[in-house]
Amino acid sequence: MLRRPLLRQEGEEKAPARLVDQLADENLAVDVLVNNAGLMEVGDFAKIGLDEHERLVQLNVAVLTSLTRRLLPAMIERGHGRILNLASTSSFQPVPSMALYAASKAFVLSLSEALSEELWGTGVTVTALCPGITKTDMYDRAQGEHPVARKLPGLLLSEVQDVAREGYEACVAGRAVVVPGLPNRLLASAVQLYPRWLVRGVGGLVGRRSTK
Ligand SMILES: NC(=O)c1ccc[n+]([C@@H]2O[C@H](COP(=O)([O-])OP(=O)(O)OC[C@H]3O[C@@H](n4cnc5c(N)ncnc54)[C@H](OP(=O)(O)O)[C@@H]3O)[C@@H](O)[C@H]2O)c1
Repeated sequence: MLRRPLLRQEGEEKAPARLVDQLADENLAVDVLVNNAGLMEVGDFAKIGLDEHERLVQLNVAVLTSLTRRLLPAMIERGHGRILNLASTSSFQPVPSMALYAASKAFVLSLSEALSEELWGTGVTVTALCPGITKTDMYDRAQGEHPVARKLPGLLLSEVQDVAREGYEACVAGRAVVVPGLPNRLLASAVQLYPRWLVRGVGGLVGRRSTK
């Protein structure tokens, strides 16, 4: 498992290489890679510090890409492997006031889906797990920053165990995309059916109201 202290060191962008070197030194083969670590930020893109944006892109996009690229060839060579990438229901539409986070999760979903097709027939599968709002530390922090997060109906809140179980089962089965929970599946499907201007506009209204 990728541990935070490794990524907190100077030269954070080199952490995936160091981790993979350590695994090689200890003769450890990775059969299952779970790219779970992620950062979220809430607020106006122009007001959030550039260093925060860069940390988010580094962790949510660059580290996930680097670990996947470094560990995938050996999985293909062995003819088996599973990669589980943490995307989000925010992967399916732009989210004003969480613009960069949603963009990073759209990247994760797109990359995962493309790879799952590229890897067809190799014995290696890639699964994008797209949870809705889940009761973790990330959600606790969002409640402090985002009034909307405090008013969400219970129906839209997922339990960690349920998300983990659905993600695990989809990963083992080699499914490309899983959205845990019926309400989240309905929402994710709906935003793909409605015109983009409408989805964007509704998101903008909610975002503007919630960050005031
Ligand atoms: N909670 C939600 O509503 C929700 C919804 C959709 C998707 N997700 C995604 O699910 C994943 C897990 O999120 P969570 O809700 O469990 O968030 P969380 O409670 O904030 O946990 C974040 C995880 O990322 C790790 N992490 C943070 N910064 C790191 C760094 N620089 N280097 C290495 N590891 C780092 C943390 O490690 P430590 O344990 O060492 O702190 C922790 O394991 C994320 O990718 C998130 O985007 C969450």
